[in-house]
Amino acid sequence: MNILITGAKGQIGTELVPFLGRSYPDSQIFSTDIDTLDVTDASKVDQFIGDNSISQVFHLAALLSGVGERSPRKTFDVNLLGSLNILEASRDRGVLQVFIPSSIAVFGRDYPRDNTPNDTVLRPLSMYGVTKVAGEVLHEYYTSRYGLDVRSLRFPGILSSRGKPGGGTTDYAIHMLAQAAQGEPNFVSFLKQGTRLPFLHIDDVLEGIVTFMNAPREHLSRRVYNVTGFSAAPEDFMFAIQKHGNPISVTYEPDFRQAIADQWPRSINDTRARKDWGWRSQLDLEETTLRLLKDFSEDL
Ligand code: SER
Repeated sequence: MNILITGAKGQIGTELVPFLGRSYPDSQIFSTDIDTLDVTDASKVDQFIGDNSISQVFHLAALLSGVGERSPRKTFDVNLLGSLNILEASRDRGVLQVFIPSSIAVFGRDYPRDNTPNDTVLRPLSMYGVTKVAGEVLHEYYTSRYGLDVRSLRFPGILSSRGKPGGGTTDYAIHMLAQAAQGEPNFVSFLKQGTRLPFLHIDDVLEGIVTFMNAPREHLSRRVYNVTGFSAAPEDFMFAIQKHGNPISVTYEPDFRQAIADQWPRSINDTRARKDWGWRSQLDLEETTLRLLKDFSEDL
């Protein structure tokens, strides 16, 4: 099987590339990034998929929520036009399966912010969220209209050490952990105390993607699933870091990203994913904190 990964140098891609190499040792993996394949260029995408006989795509190239508010047109182009180009080329060239991440940013107003269900009102208020909702609808369309097997997971804040996130609202937690691990105890959070959001450790993300993509199609009652690990506010990360013996104190200087976080779920209900294809996360706040502090201190 020939696998294409876009956004291979991004937060998920950096870790998914070696993980897929281990999971599918007989496959050839084509890792691309903005330098090698611009997903907004329809003919280049089509040519790449055709020339390399790609049968599975992990389309990870995207701009995150913070950047999205600063550059709405670019975010629309990369996130939505990019997905359209991938889907069009995939149906033309006989690709079997496409994975495209969605996000908790699909939620915005008029939905339950606690224990947010899989199926609820999607009225995002950020450009990033707009592109993710439109993307979800697009994926469903290509599946029902053309039979392409497109699958999506709505990721919460992903916590990783090797892959660096690209301007998201949940990134403060990664910065706090990195700073604490490197012995810098004064952290300034761009989200307020009490801003509770859902998170997931990258190892759970990687396992989840592969389990989901391997699930028999007939088991899936949805094309898009909520998934979560644990929910935490900035002070929860602070306490977890202190518990592991790293001194840290946090001051709160909320910026424009606070308004984004205030629209997002405080916690996620992922029962549908658990039932349909056996989703489960392994790592809670403590274990995630422990692992990332260790990773970041080894980076020194
Ligand atoms: N981590 C992402 C962001 O903050 C959420 O999808 O933008």
